Amino acid sequence: MDAVLIQTLISTVLVIVVAVIAYPDNCSNCHSSVTPNVVTDWRLSKHYGTVGAR
Ligand code: HEC
Repeated sequence: MDAVLIQTLISTVLVIVVAVIAYPDNCSNCHSSVTPNVVTDWRLSKHYGTVGAR
């Protein structure tokens, strides 16, 4: 592998790690501001509290 390819791989991994840390697995936190009505519908549904994340 040449240096450019290795650098690209490292940067890609870093970006993904930073994204995962900055946006933890908290779907409703983000979606409350981006798509609030979707979150409201989900909270009203039977899936809320039983299926999926927070
Ligand atoms: C950093 C913010 C953020 C996080 C965290 C996030 N999302 Fe999203 N999500 C978005 C945005 C922005 C869109 C595009 C909204 C649109 O369609 O206008 C989207 C779209 C979606 C859609 C498609 C909605 C549609 O109307 O087609 C689904 C389903 C979805 N997200 C589920 C999830 C789930 C499940 C999680 C958690 C594992 C999650 N999201 C975490 C920002 C986020």
